[in-house]
Amino acid sequence: MKVVELANQRYATKRFDSSKQIPKEHIENLKEVLRLAPSSINIQPWQFTFIENPELKAELAKVSLHNEEKINQANLLVVFSVADDLDEFQKVVESSLPQGLVDWYNSIRKTLPESELKNWFAKQVYIALGVGLSACVAMGLDSTPMEGIEGDKYQEILNHKSYKPILALAVGYHSEEDRNRVEVTPKSRRAAEDVIISL
Ligand SMILES: Cc1cc2nc3c(=O)[nH]c(=O)nc-3n(C[C@H](O)[C@H](O)[C@H](O)COP(=O)(O)O)c2cc1C
Repeated sequence: MKVVELANQRYATKRFDSSKQIPKEHIENLKEVLRLAPSSINIQPWQFTFIENPELKAELAKVSLHNEEKINQANLLVVFSVADDLDEFQKVVESSLPQGLVDWYNSIRKTLPESELKNWFAKQVYIALGVGLSACVAMGLDSTPMEGIEGDKYQEILNHKSYKPILALAVGYHSEEDRNRVEVTPKSRRAAEDVIISL
């Protein structure tokens, strides 16, 4: 399928059909695609938690603001977390990156205040979200990216120590009753001439 068709097909799903199961192979593919996501200096300051267990998903749904219903309906919830403990993450960097990149990271860490460094980390996690969204539609899966989660409560429930949840992605198949389907609610975007500059 052509990339523009896929971009038109993908939409933020508001109602899922929980009776349709996601093939295991698609879930495994999504894990691998996220692991392969690009990041600045290959820093990979993330963890992706895959939740299929309905009870655990329901517990997280309760602390997901306006997203509760769709998280309960979707068969899979992927939580995107960012490295939050810099000393712990230093060990990850030193054990997984070549020395040249470790040195580069160390110079960035020395220069940036902690809040800016963490902000830079978070930007990398958003890149992985974009990669995940594209992968889902390419596999024929529907999804909803969600910032509307209570990250601190997610962290407690998931018992994450050094990574902080900042985003979630509900994945499954849309319900025919979903009013946000592109056939019902056409895509709304700014005009190409406003956002694309070709020189
Ligand atoms: C980073 C991010 C966070 C979002 N958070 C939510 C959310 O919490 N709940 C929700 O229903 N949609 C959420 N959305 C969906 C957007 O509202 C949606 O992508 C946007 O309106 C464009 O519509 P489309 O994706 O259907 O084309 C989010 C999208 C992004 C990219």
